[in-house]
Amino acid sequence: MSVTASLHDESRVRVVNRVSDLRSTVAAWRKQDARIALVPTMGALHAGHISLVEAAKRHADRVVMSIFVNPTQFAPNEDFAAYPRRFQEDAQKFSAADGDLVFAPDVAEMYPEGFATTVMPEGPAKAGLEDRFRPTHFAGVATVVAKLLNQCQPDVALFGEKDYQQLKVIARMARDLDLDSEIVGVPTLRDPDGLAMSSRNLYLSIEERARASHLYVALMRCAEDLRAGRDIASAQAAAWKALESAGFVPDYIEARHAETLAPVARRDEGSLRLLAAARLGTTRLIDNIPV
Ligand code: PAJ
Repeated sequence: MSVTASLHDESRVRVVNRVSDLRSTVAAWRKQDARIALVPTMGALHAGHISLVEAAKRHADRVVMSIFVNPTQFAPNEDFAAYPRRFQEDAQKFSAADGDLVFAPDVAEMYPEGFATTVMPEGPAKAGLEDRFRPTHFAGVATVVAKLLNQCQPDVALFGEKDYQQLKVIARMARDLDLDSEIVGVPTLRDPDGLAMSSRNLYLSIEERARASHLYVALMRCAEDLRAGRDIASAQAAAWKALESAGFVPDYIEARHAETLAPVARRDEGSLRLLAAARLGTTRLIDNIPV
């Protein structure tokens, strides 16, 4: 019995692996005038992903989740091979959240023989944040998300603020390429100690997990400092030191324009977002909050 067939027995949710089956299911729903939401993921679902499904249900009648660990957004030195794959559990969690359809293509379905077209985003994708450390990442994300939006053609697609630069890259791309889906951002779901939920938290040792919430603490203090009028450079420098004292190796912690992600010199240059990435042992964590 195939993995897909056994899933049908264990959970109510439908699973399709082919674009043609995704399209025919969505077309049938459209005939019933249903509004359709897409939640793109790479699986290893946690409560943060499920909060996107819950938000999707408020926007649409049917919710599709894609589960695809997208090779093109991982650099050769990154964790593509080790990325957690837990398909059966994921389908059950999505089913329990009352989702309607899982689209789980394989690599050949998404990138057929001879594949030769890449979306190269600029603007927020070249803000000098994640792109500085993962220079090929957003081309991989933009390409796969453009494909998923075309394949499903949802009324709305939901993305977490957890990956704030990604959210802005996708919103910009959808506008620039006239993709006919509304892009909706969903607030970050956190563990009780403040650590943003992430599939990569599974990589943390018990001792690292105990310290991981200091990333959120540093962001909160820095945002407070900024609201209290401290100048941006000195608030950022203090946050950098706080991260180092907690055992992190910071990649960046920066206040940016909340929409364009452009650098800002002063607090009064519109609404700000504070974004950070830092390594704890071999695990790289990212997080962000509004200022
Ligand atoms: P993945 O890391 O699986 O995340 C899927 C979606 O869940 C993203 O929109 C992400 O921002 C959101 N998410 C993750 N953690 C969250 C949290 N704690 N609270 C709220 N939302 C959270 O991001 C990707 O996959 C990929 O890059 C993808 C967009 C699927 C393209 O391959």
